[in-house]
Amino acid sequence: MSFTYRAGVLHAEDVPLSEIAARFGTPTYVYSTAALRQRFRAYVEAFAGLDPTICYALKANSNQAVIATFAREGAGADIVSLGELKRALAAGVPAGKIVFAGVGKTAEEMRAALAAGILQFNVESEPELRMLSEVAVAMGRVAPVALRVNPDVDAKTHAKITTGKAENKFGIDMDQAPAVAALARGLPGIALEALSVHIGSQLTAIEPFREAFARLGALARALNATGPRLKRLDFGGGVGVVYRDETPPDLAGYAAAIRDTVAGLDVGIVLEPGRNLVAEAGVLLARVIRVKEGTAKRFAIIDAAMNDLIRPTLYEAWMPIRPVAEPRAGANEALMDVVGPICETGDYLAKDRSLPPLDAGDLIVVGAAGAYGAAMSSTYNTRPLAAEIMVNGSEVAVIRPRQDIDALIAGESLAPWLKH
Ligand code: LLP
Repeated sequence: MSFTYRAGVLHAEDVPLSEIAARFGTPTYVYSTAALRQRFRAYVEAFAGLDPTICYALKANSNQAVIATFAREGAGADIVSLGELKRALAAGVPAGKIVFAGVGKTAEEMRAALAAGILQFNVESEPELRMLSEVAVAMGRVAPVALRVNPDVDAKTHAKITTGKAENKFGIDMDQAPAVAALARGLPGIALEALSVHIGSQLTAIEPFREAFARLGALARALNATGPRLKRLDFGGGVGVVYRDETPPDLAGYAAAIRDTVAGLDVGIVLEPGRNLVAEAGVLLARVIRVKEGTAKRFAIIDAAMNDLIRPTLYEAWMPIRPVAEPRAGANEALMDVVGPICETGDYLAKDRSLPPLDAGDLIVVGAAGAYGAAMSSTYNTRPLAAEIMVNGSEVAVIRPRQDIDALIAGESLAPWLKH
């Protein structure tokens, strides 16, 4: 494990987190290189023999050092914006391993991705297909396309991160897909090469995957019977992780579901994992500012807040919290809310959490924070973006310095009529 107590202090690999807090301050995200590599290699191993293109979903954590760690392991990238295209290329991901997802690609984004020469556009509607064809023709190109289908399967995850139900905005409805595929085959700027599916994030059961993949496989067989054979199937992301007591499918079972789907199809495999590659490789390190005893509750007020990590607020997510100083055996735990300094009642990292005694100045971590943590942070309440640190054995690197408050303010300017 990459975050363990040694001599009573929580370490990131070989580095005490207390040392990182002393050197770089808090709140700070800390990532373990070993954990990132371990997760990526677990995917490679689970899919041995299938040779998948593993397109890391940048949205989970788009720090250049994180992307580059995966790129050196052979990863591609799943991107959803021009910004993510630039990040992927800058971190050394080959364009030929980039898939572009998302319901709202603009003509500008299409042009940039076509010019870069990406592997495929995951197209989510007929109007998007027509626009992509026009953009490609104007550039003298042909766009490689995967149709993203909506299999109308309930992923049984949080409503805000469910994407594969018919009422969700994502993908082409199954019953419309054959007609859109026929259109794709006839458009001059489109090469229909693949199908894709993604039904949601933090899935903790295998059945929804199996159901969605079965529909994808059936559609692929039907399309292969009526035109040029598909080259790839893209299975999206979504294998969940353990925050508390979830029992997500293991990668072997997930790989078996995909192996079954592609049997006899002679297609390449694309995967788009995000959370599963980075969540457990990161913690958010924070310091207790003070402890406030209310009549109804005890509050540990820490220097990290919902602007740094919005998952508890936005998705009612339960995220693990551990003190950096290892609690004495038998220490009496007490219930408390762990909250930030932001002026909103929704600003909490944990509610009614049983924790060992905490005092002002103590360090804690929020665990499994490598995914959708820093990537979703903001400067609300003019709180600067947290620092990000990467550890590799005993080496420590700043991969994003804490944002400078004066620079943040200097990035804005007065309208001309306010200058005198
Ligand atoms: N592919 C597509 C098309 C996606 O929309 C997503 C995530 C992924 C791949 C990666 O899914 P993952 O492997 O990470 O589950 N902010 C939320 C999660 C949003 C997921 C959005 N789409 C959270 O913090 O729980």
